[in-house]
Amino acid sequence: MSWPHLVALGVGAIVGTGILTLIGVGADKAGPAVLISFLIAGFVCACAALAYAEMATMIPASGSAYTYSYVVIGQAVAWVIGWSLILEYSLVVSAVAVGWSGYAAPLLHASAGIPMALMQGPYAGGVVNLPAVFIIAVIAGMLIVGMRKSAAANAILVLLKLAALAVFVFVALPHFDTANLEPFSPFGFAKTMGPDGVERGIMAAAAIIFSAFYGFDAIATAAEETKNPKRDLAIGIMGSMLACAAIYTVIAAVALGATPFTRFANSPEPLALILRELEQPGAAHFLALSAVIALPTVILAFFYGQSRIFFVMARDRLLPKGLAHVSRNGAPVRTTMFTVLIVGTIAAFFPLDEIVALANAGTLVAFSAVALCMLIMRRRAPEAPRGFRTPAAWLVGPVAIAGCVYLFASLPQQTQIWFLIWNVVGIALYALFGSRHGLAGAGPQVQEAAA
Ligand code: ALA
Repeated sequence: MSWPHLVALGVGAIVGTGILTLIGVGADKAGPAVLISFLIAGFVCACAALAYAEMATMIPASGSAYTYSYVVIGQAVAWVIGWSLILEYSLVVSAVAVGWSGYAAPLLHASAGIPMALMQGPYAGGVVNLPAVFIIAVIAGMLIVGMRKSAAANAILVLLKLAALAVFVFVALPHFDTANLEPFSPFGFAKTMGPDGVERGIMAAAAIIFSAFYGFDAIATAAEETKNPKRDLAIGIMGSMLACAAIYTVIAAVALGATPFTRFANSPEPLALILRELEQPGAAHFLALSAVIALPTVILAFFYGQSRIFFVMARDRLLPKGLAHVSRNGAPVRTTMFTVLIVGTIAAFFPLDEIVALANAGTLVAFSAVALCMLIMRRRAPEAPRGFRTPAAWLVGPVAIAGCVYLFASLPQQTQIWFLIWNVVGIALYALFGSRHGLAGAGPQVQEAAA
């Protein structure tokens, strides 16, 4: 593998529900100004990705933000970050499964007559979201039997995803009408509570849309298999981030110009809906089908990331030793089944935007930690070799941290409360278990890498 494969891997893990579905949630929160939300979220994420690329080439061990925090700051902080990553990875699996179901359900309804009530959660007037549970179970099964490392299959699925988005642009662009962009920012910039109890504004949308941009850490897990890991890792991370930012900006601009945003706001399948509104049912069908075929790569990447986090935290004895037992395929059967139970239940009954908001809370905390680690290491070991050096580090690092904090503050208040509860539970577990059993110093592999 070399950097083009890594960029393909990155785009495979990044392009998902964010652009395919959350564009509708974002439009509901910001109107056409969701375009600005994309730019803000992408900018903050790119700053964090630069810090991430530097840390990943400095400490090329698995565990990402958790491992960097462990080496640079210490065990207790690493625990909090690891606990946030567990939240992020699990909830992204649930979220993308719900997004997948949004596109799969109408196809299943039309072709097999499955009632919609069994394919949507109670928040949408349904009973249970069975397709979301189904796809999670399928991905778990694939992980258990070890079907993960096909770079060729990944490349084909990435091309399919891009082809579907290209068809969208090709079909929708001729309908672009600037009148659809008026009024551009009906809900203002900062998060404000609307009369219907929904928090809106450009920043409220950016805090949700943020999830569209992450997933590049999936690349770091493949670092050992690249020819020139340090250079390729940095190019892979930044290249896939920039490619996705460009793709999203084009798609969002075309979508918002082609149809009034109120038509697709909060739709479970906004891009297909827009194409149908433009009387292009064939293109809509192709897009939905491509989403159904290609979106599982995102679920796979995050599900795998989840098992890696469990693995490294258990190896450091912060989680029960049993979780460090990984079969040759990289996914222990029992832990995977347990994960399916939790993320499947969440996907079955909760709406996409709420799941994503909480996943983002975890990610924003982890990204701030990575930027902080990058700055600390610049102070502590300015001359230490790094495969990649963040340009203007003393500007990019603080901007990444401030941006993450502002995005966190822009999340729904309910999400912030849930995140607090999650951390109270986490800190209690650490006090009861981790702080007593945790190995002094980071795990052997990490120490070796950091040396
Ligand atoms: N970036 C991933 C997505 O948009 C999580 O689905």
